[in-house]
Amino acid sequence: MSTEAALARISVLKPWLGEEEARALAEVLASGWITQGAKVKQFEADFSAAQEVPHAVATSSCTTALHLALVVAGIGAGDDVVVPSLAFIATANAVTYVGARPVFCDVDPATGNVTAETIRAALTPDTRAVIVVDQGGVPVDLDPIRELCDRHGITIIEDAACAIGSRYRDRPVGTWADAAVWSFHEGKILTTGEGGMERVMTCIRAAAGARP
Ligand SMILES: Cc1ncc(COP(=O)(O)O)c(C=O)c1O
Repeated sequence: MSTEAALARISVLKPWLGEEEARALAEVLASGWITQGAKVKQFEADFSAAQEVPHAVATSSCTTALHLALVVAGIGAGDDVVVPSLAFIATANAVTYVGARPVFCDVDPATGNVTAETIRAALTPDTRAVIVVDQGGVPVDLDPIRELCDRHGITIIEDAACAIGSRYRDRPVGTWADAAVWSFHEGKILTTGEGGMERVMTCIRAAAGARP
C-alpha cells in the first residue's frame, strides 16, 4: 500500500458519521429542540454513566467547561494556575478568562503529561489550581499529583478533552480530579460537532469553602 493510500485510511480528524447519526440529527430537528432539550439531558445522563461519575453538565465547548470549572473553583485575579507547556491553547486561555495567571510547567517527554515533579517546580505562593491534561488520551498519573496538591490546598482540574474512554486506576479518567472536562469537537473520540462536558461536583464543594 502506498503512503498516500495508508494516510487516507488513517484519518485522525475526519469524523466517522453515517446513517445512524443522520437519523438522530433528523429527530432533533423535527423536535424543534436544537439547543437544550431532551437529547442533551439524555446525553448528560448516558455520558455520566459511562464515565462513572454522579453528574455531568453539557457545555457549548470544552473551553467553556474549563472556564466554568475555574469560576466554580473560585479562581480569579491574583491567583496562579499551573498548566502544561504542551497542550492545546484553550487550557491556558481559560485561565486568563477569569483574570488569573497561567504558569507553564514542563511535561514528561515519554508521556507528554505533567508530573508531580514538574508541577512542584512551577508552584508559587499564589498557586490555587492546576489544570492537568491527558495528552492525546494518555492518562495523567494523578495519584502523586493529588498528594502534592492536597498538601498545598490546590484544586485539580482535569482537561480530558482527548481522553474519552481512557482509564486511570481502573476507572475512567476524570473521576479522580476535583473537576473534569471533555471535548466533543469533531477531532475528538466522540463528537457532537462542537460541544463539551463537565464534571463539577467536588469543585462546587471547594468553592463553598470545604477545600479537598
Ligand atoms: C487538551 C485540550 N483542551 C481543550 C480543548 C478545547 O476543546 P473545545 O474545542 O471543545 O473547546 C482541546 C481541543 O482540541 C484540547 O485538545
